[in-house]
Amino acid sequence: MTRKRDWEIVTALDIGTSKVAAIVAAMDEDSRELEILGFGSSSSLGMKRGTVVNIEATVRSIHQAVGEAELMSGVQIGDVIVGISGDHVQSLNSHGIVAVGGDAVSETDMARVIEAARAVVVPSDKRVLHVLPREYVVDDQDGILDPTLMSGVRLEAHVHIITVGESAAQNIEKCVRRCDLRAERIVLEHLASGTAILTEDEMQLGCCLLDIGAGTTDIAVFEGGSIRFTHVIPIAGDQVTYDIAQSLRTPTQSAEQLKISHACALAQMVEEDKEIEVVSVGSRPPRKISQQALSRVVEPRCEELFQLVHNVLHRGGYLESAAAGVVLTGGTSAMPGMVELAEEVLNVPVRLGHAQGARGLSEVVNNPSHATGVGLLLYALKPRDQAAAAGGRSQKGGLRSLFKWFKGQF
Ligand SMILES: Nc1ncnc2c1ncn2[C@@H]1O[C@H](COP(=O)(O)OP(=O)(O)OP(=O)(O)O)[C@@H](O)[C@H]1O
Ligand SMILES: [Mg+2]
Repeated sequence: MTRKRDWEIVTALDIGTSKVAAIVAAMDEDSRELEILGFGSSSSLGMKRGTVVNIEATVRSIHQAVGEAELMSGVQIGDVIVGISGDHVQSLNSHGIVAVGGDAVSETDMARVIEAARAVVVPSDKRVLHVLPREYVVDDQDGILDPTLMSGVRLEAHVHIITVGESAAQNIEKCVRRCDLRAERIVLEHLASGTAILTEDEMQLGCCLLDIGAGTTDIAVFEGGSIRFTHVIPIAGDQVTYDIAQSLRTPTQSAEQLKISHACALAQMVEEDKEIEVVSVGSRPPRKISQQALSRVVEPRCEELFQLVHNVLHRGGYLESAAAGVVLTGGTSAMPGMVELAEEVLNVPVRLGHAQGARGLSEVVNNPSHATGVGLLLYALKPRDQAAAAGGRSQKGGLRSLFKWFKGQF
């Protein structure tokens, strides 16, 4: 076997409300290739609406997922890229201006202008997670994505700043540390999903990503090749399960099973005469109901969710400017009828997104529940953004200090 170049090992840790997933991959920064080597998953027991509510339980879930991923990949996991979401996430747009140091824009000028743009007042219970450049203006020329080496005297940066709750971020770091791991980067989950799912054209034209998980629906709007808006709605698949359990008087676990196996978000898409069995609570015998009756419970909740999304996007005028429409991902988007219902409520073209840009383990790459995990891996191919650099949270060496994986030896 011929030995190939050294590839770096990266591990993504998606601590979701329903599951914790650890994905190990080998990455080649030069060719921007990513090959998934191992995967582990466990039920998430210590999370609520995307936020840690029980440290010990979350630590156990991470341990199990990481252990499985280590076993499958044969790699000992040390550093991880972790996702974060929850209704503590907030975002704002800001801008900064500096005088260009020499006769052309240098990397130092870029760092200075981002530093100027991030100088906003952030409450002490918030942490600046990302400062994402949206566009640069050199003198009077706007719409520039990379101003390096451009001539000019004045450099302006328009950025999207994302803040998270300091304690929410610390709790994630604590859980990771207790598993003898290091949170090498913390990345906003919808940014990760967007990286994995959206095409360049969609990001350029204007597109809205909805990651509908178990506890949160994460919204990210991209336009002109960069992020414009982010928002988290603390309603997702768990509420649908709760509604089924309440309406059909069935235990939560059975409601979850019924939802995954038989629910459709649009009742009119279901055959009228198809019957399904519903487990009853206590010692009562199971009952039969029509699949359409189940979908009539599910549809109003999903419709309400899309209505909330509509209101959020419409308020900022984002729906109207999203020429490439809406892309759905996250486990709940796998429910039949979600795309059709979203199109009805949002009145724009909607598609289901699958992660792109990674190979190996197709059951992971093609599963919408793992779009965030794959996106976190792809994020490793991007340069560390200014928030991490300026915030001093990055540690020297970063990914480069990870074990090298000699691809040719396997
Ligand atoms: N085929 C399906 N039909 C309906 N719902 C599904 C299906 N498959 C998965 N789900 C739901 O998707 C949700 C899990 O999705 P996902 O793994 O994206 O969430 P998570 O990352 O754990 O949570 P979050 O991102 O909200 O913190 C669960 O509510 C589950 O019931
Ligand atoms: Mg998720």
